[in-house]
Amino acid sequence: MPANICQQLNNKNLDKESYISSLLAQMTLTEKIGQMSQLNNDNENLKTSIIKGNVGSIINEVNHESINALQRIASQESRLGIPLLIGRDVIHGFNTILPIPLGQAASWSTELVETCANIAAIESASSGVNWTFAPMIDISRDPRWGRIAESLGEDPYLCSALGCAMVKGFQGEKLSDSTSIAACAKHFAGYGASESGRDYNTTNIPENELRNVHLPPFKALAEAGVSTFMASFSDLNGVPVTGNSWLLSDILREEWQYMGMVVSDWESIPQLITHGFCMDRESAALEACLAGIDMEMASNTYAINLPSLIKNDQVNLDQINMMVSRILSLKFDLGLFEASFTESTPPLKRLNSFHLDTAKKAATKSCVLLKNNKQTLPLSKTEITSLAVIGPLADDGYEQLGTWVFDAKPSQSITCLNAIKDYVGNSVEVKFSKGLETSRSNNQEDFSKATQLAASADVAVLFLGEEAILSGEAHCRSNINLPGCQEQLINAIYETGTSIVLVIMAGRPITLEKILPKVDAVLFAWHPGTMGGPAITDLLFGETSPSGKLPVTFPRTVGQIPLYYSQKNTGRPPSDATFVDINDIQVRAAQTSLGMTSTHLDTHFSPLFPFGFGLSYTQFEYTNIQVNRQSIKVGESVEITATITNIGNYDAEEIVQLYIRDLVGSVTRPVKELKGFKGVFLTAGQSESVVFKVHTDELAFYNRQMKLKTEPGLFNAWLGSNSDAELKAEFEVV
Ligand code: BGC
Repeated sequence: MPANICQQLNNKNLDKESYISSLLAQMTLTEKIGQMSQLNNDNENLKTSIIKGNVGSIINEVNHESINALQRIASQESRLGIPLLIGRDVIHGFNTILPIPLGQAASWSTELVETCANIAAIESASSGVNWTFAPMIDISRDPRWGRIAESLGEDPYLCSALGCAMVKGFQGEKLSDSTSIAACAKHFAGYGASESGRDYNTTNIPENELRNVHLPPFKALAEAGVSTFMASFSDLNGVPVTGNSWLLSDILREEWQYMGMVVSDWESIPQLITHGFCMDRESAALEACLAGIDMEMASNTYAINLPSLIKNDQVNLDQINMMVSRILSLKFDLGLFEASFTESTPPLKRLNSFHLDTAKKAATKSCVLLKNNKQTLPLSKTEITSLAVIGPLADDGYEQLGTWVFDAKPSQSITCLNAIKDYVGNSVEVKFSKGLETSRSNNQEDFSKATQLAASADVAVLFLGEEAILSGEAHCRSNINLPGCQEQLINAIYETGTSIVLVIMAGRPITLEKILPKVDAVLFAWHPGTMGGPAITDLLFGETSPSGKLPVTFPRTVGQIPLYYSQKNTGRPPSDATFVDINDIQVRAAQTSLGMTSTHLDTHFSPLFPFGFGLSYTQFEYTNIQVNRQSIKVGESVEITATITNIGNYDAEEIVQLYIRDLVGSVTRPVKELKGFKGVFLTAGQSESVVFKVHTDELAFYNRQMKLKTEPGLFNAWLGSNSDAELKAEFEVV
């Protein structure tokens, strides 16, 4: 068989640009459009389409032999021999499942998040996957939205830092390494602002807010070299993103000079018709192509319509060449032209001890201690003799994995029940009752068994929350309390008088105000992944102290949403001095003023737990905040320092957080904005001085002219353990 074009080019040792232009010069229009098409692995014409050069990428094939077979067809049986991009949603692990992204975000550790992504890359790459659709860096301020589970939380700074770390972990040192896969910044942009937290819904985001809140993580990832972007399903200010040339071309390409490839979301091009933006599939293909979608996911509007659109001069061939060259460029960077086959590692070997240890560490660091009355936690196996383990999530290897898990075996999860039994051995009697069949059950038949166990135990540990299916794509909720009869189960166990430790596994913040007084301790574990059991057990028994901090605000009630820490002050901010509770309003009294501030009457204006919040088994004291200079010029930096002391009895890590407020802006600025964080490990009694350096560029924001500028003026800076930090300093930019 004569060598195909890629094989001929491979022998010439060309640089990337020459390689791609030589290849492009040999391609027919059909082959070019083929590169712009991604097919699902269940497509019945997959093999013939690859042979004909009609496919650039496959999604959802993970079987190693099948992937190698498809790559062989592409590189040996198609005319040109162009290898395939193999895409898969590797969101929080492949065979070894790490905590859901929102849980990983609660670790506030860029290092850990990078390692987690790297493990996911190593495992998936060994099956032949070379492209993941992660990280999802949509700013998520609505916990009703199911996809908040897949997000890195509500804050642009945290989301940018952790998102960049994930990209580094997926893409490794070099994309061409056999353990690297291409990452994807998604969903560009504003998807997290879907109305009412209903998935795929409309978003209306003023440009200023878009640029100051939603776009910064995408810009940061573009600058950090993320290989691809995915356009959001959503309608942005009346123009669905898939057809939004202002966002995809003017901002992404012209303003940011992003050179990577842009993929549509699943069938989002034909959905332009459903949006009411295009009449038919031809105009949908036209709008998407003109807007700047390089590759179409799952549907075939490009394959069918681009040939005639080009022939009729509605789409310019230069543009197609540019789009195809971005796709080929990614294939080149991945080293696919040299080697598209992979050596597989068997799945069991992929779950090696380093991966499992990291999964445990990540789960440990993602847990957030929300309450710990009278130091109920940690438990001591020498002080208690019996433990009641109760709840539908105590012993369920599937549910603890969370959303977006396709390639893991729940039988490989270690559940909390098993881990606790293993840990306490014979020293503590462990009794178990599910109490409820699932997190959604309304059947209270098993309550009596659960309460009996609790009544006869020293402590009851309840494993409640949400099953995996209740969060994730299209899994949104209008109430975010514990579903089913779980609150009643807590009430029933509370009646026994036994001390209650509540461990919650969930894909989103849960409204806990009503049940909080009934429980002594709350450990929020998100969906912790394969090693959730051992991680949670270590925390419950004090092998290590919780250090996780909330990456998202926890509201008291769903009616407070949207509720996030970096809100604007308004002209009438609420305060405790002016707050009037609905129960304190006099009946028909001449009382006309109910505080007249921006709040609800029937709930406090504060959240239940603020952004950044998380307790430890020890206490940290913040003192002596200082700035090294009272006044800096634009272009200079200020150093903000404080002393952190571990004044409790446990050695523990604290995530020190820096918040800034720009007091006056030409566009009003949030009351606080995260500008730095650091994990500091302090032994009991130890003090450390922690320094943050802030350059004036980091104080910049998009002004009314949509220019990124730092405006001179006064700034407040706080250092503390959450966004309610009170230790404050001041400096000025002149
Ligand atoms: C989701 C994307 C995902 C894609 C491929 C879509 O429904 O919105 O985030 O990457 O499917 O599975």
